[in-house]
Amino acid sequence: MKSKFQKIKGTYDILPPESKKWNTSISILQSLSEQFGYKEIKTPIIENIDLFKQNIGYETDVSKEMFSWEDPSGNQLVLKPEMTAPVVRAYIESGFFRSKPLCKLFYIDALFRREKPQKGRQRQFHQFGIEALGSSEVEQDVEVILLATKILYHLGISNTTLQINDIGNYETRKKYQEKLNEYFSDYKSSLSKLSQNRLGNNSLRILDSKEEEDIEIIKNAPFIKEFLTRDELNNYSSLLSHLDALGITYKENSHLVRGLDYYNGTTFEISNMSSKSQNALLGGGRYDNLVESMGGPSTPAVGFAAGIERLLIESSTEDKNETIDFFIGFESYSEGAFKIANQLIDEGYSIYIDTLKKSEKNQLKNAIKMNASFYLRCDESIKLKNLTSKEELVVNNISELKKFIKL
Ligand code: HAM
Repeated sequence: MKSKFQKIKGTYDILPPESKKWNTSISILQSLSEQFGYKEIKTPIIENIDLFKQNIGYETDVSKEMFSWEDPSGNQLVLKPEMTAPVVRAYIESGFFRSKPLCKLFYIDALFRREKPQKGRQRQFHQFGIEALGSSEVEQDVEVILLATKILYHLGISNTTLQINDIGNYETRKKYQEKLNEYFSDYKSSLSKLSQNRLGNNSLRILDSKEEEDIEIIKNAPFIKEFLTRDELNNYSSLLSHLDALGITYKENSHLVRGLDYYNGTTFEISNMSSKSQNALLGGGRYDNLVESMGGPSTPAVGFAAGIERLLIESSTEDKNETIDFFIGFESYSEGAFKIANQLIDEGYSIYIDTLKKSEKNQLKNAIKMNASFYLRCDESIKLKNLTSKEELVVNNISELKKFIKL
């Protein structure tokens, strides 16, 4: 039967049994973050449009793909498309920067981008991410990357590549951008329309192009590594040597630029090697100037975010078969059934109350299907059946029942 209503394009329902796998994975993400000393932050779904336009960049895809509207008071609002800017807003607004010189936060949240939907790319999706605010040391980058690799390991995701780059500071990028402009201008007529439009102020973003006609041209484009200062190079090589020491394998990609404007220094992405499209599982890097540009004190920061849906597509965590302790059925003696159910819940057992009032045969069949340990049939008497041993007996109250069960 077709429903009169359909979900909005690019959104989806998380139905059982998928919801169970979802929750198991969320618990893994939460407990790993807590193991690393990160605390959870939740921010509102709506924000002012300028929070993103000004901080992730006016010309970025994310900025252009926001769900936005004007409220009756004339405020320009959006459904948040990413979490770094809201976390920084909250960090400044709450005064955390005063009380927590090193502030480590994690989040799990729904985000919205008006992108063309396809597998692994929705208009409403979820991110797990972390942000470490306050440390400029390379060891902070190492910790963030270590946590990223740990979540993949604990979710049973293998066959991934960590790509890493250092995009330097503003001055370095300015010099690089000039060189890139010169290079790409020589190929202007062969570039895709999209990349031609990016020539000039936005030529770094051409490096991110997936358009076929751009790929070969990009391969021979100058590398940012050639423009890094001595300090930046030292920092970068220290990061790589920490990763080596930890046995974390990586691929240097001196063309790796991220799709948001706030980055500097370390940038990285982990992608899946097996799937062709939408293979970025997570991405992040340093954003040392964002807090200050948003009105806070100068505060170096680094973080990453992962698409939860993409993690789940790849995750091999298996849920054990769901079980319940008691399947409770009745036809007319429901008051007695509820009294027992009430007590069983207080004792910590899991129960399933079948309110369809079907025959004993029907209830028993369903109890077995649901992997129940016991079937309780409440008539004038209470019949209890152990569904493993097939033993059966009549009990009068819960204390008699408890003598019989060993759960
Ligand atoms: P991002 O690269 O835009 O970075 O997104 C991070 C991850 O979110 C992607 O690697 C991908 O897995 C997932 N993702 C993005 N868009 C979609 C979509 N439409 N559908 C499904 N999954 C999606 C950021 O958002 C930065 N705030 C990350 C960061 C945190 N950088 C520093 N701290």
